[in-house]
Amino acid sequence: MLRTGSPAAPLTLSVNGALRTLAGATPDTPLLYILRNDCELNGPKYGCGLGQCGACTVLVDGQPTRSCVVPAAVACSREVTTLEGLGTLEAPHPVQRAFIDEQAAQCGYCLNGMIMSAVALLASNPLPDEETIRDALRFNLCRCGTHLEIVRAVQRAARYLQQEQGN
Ligand code: FES
Repeated sequence: MLRTGSPAAPLTLSVNGALRTLAGATPDTPLLYILRNDCELNGPKYGCGLGQCGACTVLVDGQPTRSCVVPAAVACSREVTTLEGLGTLEAPHPVQRAFIDEQAAQCGYCLNGMIMSAVALLASNPLPDEETIRDALRFNLCRCGTHLEIVRAVQRAARYLQQEQGN
């Protein structure tokens, strides 16, 4: 991946709850490059690089954000959450667990974006209907065509989150 811009003062980003000082990064470097190259977080994927496929989605202050087209400077003073910040192998986030339980992947390349977008959706709407789920994920593209399983996974995730909250 190419970097753009000239060297500047080190950038400080809060990623998955930890402050990261990035000496080699410039403010106009796409956030995705910094997350993958400097922070070694491979959850967000490079798909189109044009903000069109959703593979690179991360949360910035809880909002789904296309990290391939957002300059790193935009994320300073905000909290960046990547797939790695949701859960662990031993204790996956309920949305991650739901995607596993529904086997909602074929190649899996889109799943980062699907999961991050689903987490944001369920944070704002804990019980979305199918149409709302489809609408929230309409700009996350899946080339394999596993959309039906993905919708079911989001519905399952909503149930898991409700159970966790004792509803
Ligand atoms: Fe960012 Fe496609 S890689 S939207």
